[in-house]
Amino acid sequence: MRILITGTHGQLGTALQKELTNQNYEVIALGKSDLDLTKIKQIKTVIEKFCPKVVINCAAYNYVEGAGEDIEKAYCLNTFAPYWLAVTTKKVGGKLIQLSSDYVFDGSKESFRENDTPCPLNIYGMSRLAGERLVHLVAPESIIIRTSRLFGFSDDPQSHNFVKGIIKRANQEGLVSVVTDQIGNPTYAPDLAVAICQLLEKRAVVGIYHITNSGACSWYEFTKKIFEIAHITAPIIPIVTDESGTKISRPSFSVLENFRLIELGITPLRHWSEALAEYLGKLTI
Ligand SMILES: NC(=O)c1ccc[n+]([C@@H]2O[C@H](COP(=O)([O-])OP(=O)(O)OC[C@H]3O[C@@H](n4cnc5c(N)ncnc54)[C@H](OP(=O)(O)O)[C@@H]3O)[C@@H](O)[C@H]2O)c1
Repeated sequence: MRILITGTHGQLGTALQKELTNQNYEVIALGKSDLDLTKIKQIKTVIEKFCPKVVINCAAYNYVEGAGEDIEKAYCLNTFAPYWLAVTTKKVGGKLIQLSSDYVFDGSKESFRENDTPCPLNIYGMSRLAGERLVHLVAPESIIIRTSRLFGFSDDPQSHNFVKGIIKRANQEGLVSVVTDQIGNPTYAPDLAVAICQLLEKRAVVGIYHITNSGACSWYEFTKKIFEIAHITAPIIPIVTDESGTKISRPSFSVLENFRLIELGITPLRHWSEALAEYLGKLTI
């Protein structure tokens, strides 16, 4: 089966390319220079050229703070690009797998299932939810995967994630301040890639799936574990979001229950701390 991946040099794109190739799928792995998702004509040309059975869109505008200022870019990549991918993929007889985010929720309860009503608190979350809705409208056979707090390897040496960022900050500044009042599920991109492959094997699935590693924690607890495993002794100052200087509202709880995945009989992903230990064992900064 021919599978086309967009945003292939990002964390999930890198992991998926490896996993799908290991599973003997025919993989067309495209980065921004091969397919710029801000260009509608290019989307049509590329999808019509390769006629993939499945398109997995790993590209996104991921900068939550920046989305409030660069609204056009956030909607272009997170809403309209998925829409055009869904339209053109459907036209060639394929199916879209669109990635989305825990930030479609408002944190008004401690965890969220796939059928809970989304209510994003910021532009980033709105652009993701709008993308989900448009994809569903034009191609209801698509799969939407919501995930959160990704960490993993990337072909792009400039790529950023929380784990690398907090280690660099500890090294440069000697101490870090981290919020205690935002709870979510850290997720290891290679584990997510394996789960996406398992979902692919179940051919008839459609609709929204939550896929994260098991277990939830605050950014503060996540940092404590990172430092413990990596033997970093820099002090970690616990703060609350109001003290962090952010202008963006974020959900206090954005824990994603992997309800439908488990219902399908797929084994829940391992605990995030186990995945983190594997990641840090392989990471070179
Ligand atoms: N990272 C997280 O914490 C997180 C949390 C929740 C959901 N997700 C979702 O999970 C998916 C995968 O995330 P990730 O962490 O793997 O993302 P990532 O590492 O930031 O990779 C995103 C990729 O998208 C590419 N891209 C940006 N603009 C593009 C354009 N105009 N055309 C084509 N490609 C473009 C980027 O290329 P350049 O670097 O060259 O711009 C990058 O390779 C995304 O949908 C993301 O929103 C991620």
